[in-house]
Amino acid sequence: MGPGPITADPRVLRAMSAQLVGQFDPSMTAYMTETMALYRAVFRTTNQQTFLVDGTSRAGIEAALVSLIEPGDRVLVPIFGRFGHLLVEIAERCRAEVHTIEMPWGEVFEPETVERAVRAVSPKMLATVHGDTSTTMCQPLADIGRICRDNDVLFYCDATASLGGNTFELDAWGLDVATAGLQKCLGGPSGSAPISISPRAVDVINARKNVEAGIREHQDVAHGSRIASNYFDLAMIMDYWGDRRLNHHTEATTMLYAARECARLLVAEGIDRAVERHRRHGAAMLAGVRGLGLTVFGDVAHKMHNVVAVEIPTGLDGDAARAALLNDFGIEIGTSFGPLHGRVWRIGTMGHNARKEAVLLTLAALEQVLRAGNVPITAGGGVGAAQEVYAS
Ligand SMILES: Cc1ncc(COP(=O)(O)O)c(C=O)c1O
Repeated sequence: MGPGPITADPRVLRAMSAQLVGQFDPSMTAYMTETMALYRAVFRTTNQQTFLVDGTSRAGIEAALVSLIEPGDRVLVPIFGRFGHLLVEIAERCRAEVHTIEMPWGEVFEPETVERAVRAVSPKMLATVHGDTSTTMCQPLADIGRICRDNDVLFYCDATASLGGNTFELDAWGLDVATAGLQKCLGGPSGSAPISISPRAVDVINARKNVEAGIREHQDVAHGSRIASNYFDLAMIMDYWGDRRLNHHTEATTMLYAARECARLLVAEGIDRAVERHRRHGAAMLAGVRGLGLTVFGDVAHKMHNVVAVEIPTGLDGDAARAALLNDFGIEIGTSFGPLHGRVWRIGTMGHNARKEAVLLTLAALEQVLRAGNVPITAGGGVGAAQEVYAS
């Protein structure tokens, strides 16, 4: 019940145990094409270029940034948690001229603040996180999309923590590129990074296309400044997933099975229903921790549905309490990073764990751990408050 990775959906684990096939086997290429269509539904986009980058979520981030940013390009990063700092770090490694604006952890940006910064910096790209797992905050994106379009700025977003459990509208919000991972609301393991790229971002990437020497054909004239990474070269990866099937890496077949199954389950459930499931169980967990008498961190109006940050009661050893939850009840909750380390626990309700019994058992176990730590609590208050949410 941490902030991810979480208990994988058993159906995803089963899909991963299927036998491997070669990467140009017709069933494999059919799976790839099907997976592209499934992730278009998940991201809510018509972008043809919607596929998987092999690697954990940051592989998707690195692929997007290294393929779009050329050295010296101005990039604006609004930071409201740890993963905004990660975007800065990756953009700097791409040798961008990085500009930042920053909100205190636990808050999100007003569009006017972002608009002022866009006007002042005039960046090629704005890169932001949607849901920052470190603070649990979810940045509204629709206005930022409009601001980017009005100012001709490419709009990249890291949706790793939010996708599938919170409304996400790639096309309607005017995003150019979004990336994610499987290990949060998608209910899978880490190791595959779904990505979707708008036609105008595809043009920016393809303007730098330099096909690898050993597979180059007569039409592959090198142009633009070569993308600094081979593995994350989206121009080549698009040719690999596209009709041309131009060889690149050896596709991580088992992760493809996992990613396909995650999206298949989400689409079968219905994206809106999956978001509503996360909202409901997140609301029950929020009410439950408050019902125990605990204090929730941050601007709750902008909290992601799928994770809550709870202040560790004064005088309680937060790590010892987490260890007791794990050892006595088999339930893992999360610690936190940076300024919140030692201050809050993060409790997730996502993917396969966005279920009533998971919420109620966690609250019941947490009550026992708090009681053992002599924290004054409302007996039965956690499960009771969550049940009221379920009854409403
Ligand atoms: C919002 C966000 N972005 C990026 C990452 C990095 O993901 P990974 O560890 O899969 O590379 C995480 C991981 O928790 C995350 O929550």
